[in-house]
Amino acid sequence: MRATVYLIVGLPGAGKTTHAKQLELEAPALRLTTDEWQILLFDYENPEDRRDLVEGKLIEIGMRTAQLGTNVILDFGFWSKDERTALRWIAAAVGARCQVVYLPIDAEEQRQRIMHRFTTTPDQTFTISDAELAEWRTVFEPPDQAELDGTHLAPAPPDHPTWSAWASHRWPSLPELAENPVT
Ligand SMILES: Nc1ncnc2c1ncn2[C@@H]1O[C@H](COP(=O)(O)OP(=O)(O)OP(=O)(O)O)[C@@H](O)[C@H]1O
Ligand SMILES: [Mg+2]
Repeated sequence: MRATVYLIVGLPGAGKTTHAKQLELEAPALRLTTDEWQILLFDYENPEDRRDLVEGKLIEIGMRTAQLGTNVILDFGFWSKDERTALRWIAAAVGARCQVVYLPIDAEEQRQRIMHRFTTTPDQTFTISDAELAEWRTVFEPPDQAELDGTHLAPAPPDHPTWSAWASHRWPSLPELAENPVT
C-alpha cells in the first residue's frame, strides 16, 4: 500500500502539533515538527533562514520515508498554497499519496490557546505578540477545496521547470528530485 504524506496546515496555536501527535499514533506515521528542531538547535531564537534549511532537510527525509512505504506527517504550518502544491507534487513523484489537513482557528480562540500554552508548556514554543498574530492572519492562505480533496494540481510557476525545482528554491537544503527518483 502507498504511504501518505500529511501536510498539517494552520496558523500558530491552531492545534497542529497536538493533532499531529494523535495522528502519528493513529496513522501511524513518522512526525516531523520543525519547531522541535529549531528550539533544540537555536534555543528559542527561531532564525528564519535556518528554519528554511531545517525544513528542507526534514522534507527530504520525509519524502524518502514515504517512498519507502511509511506514512509521514510534516507539521510545518504551510501558509502558502505554492508550498502545499509543491509538496503534493513531490509526494506523487515518489509514489506516495498526500493529504492536506487544515486546522482553522478564529482570532480569539487562537489568542487564548497561545496564552494557555505559554503558561503551561513554555519550553515547547516561541513567544508571539498580538501584532504578529494579526499580521500573520493577513499572510496565511487557507487551503481551497481542491487541495483538501487532493484533486487539481496547478502547474509549476513559469520561472521553474517543475514543482521540485520551485521547492528547492524555496527550501535551499532540499535537493531537486532526479528524473527517476530512487526506488
Ligand atoms: N482542539 C483543541 N482544543 C483546545 N485546546 C487545544 C486544542 N488543540 C490544541 N490546543 C491547545 O492549544 C495550544 C496550541 O496547540 P498546538 O501547540 O498544538 O498548536 P500549533 O498549531 O502546533 O502551534 P504552533 O504553530 O505555534 O506550533 C496548546 O496549549 C494545546 O494544548
Ligand atoms: Mg506546533
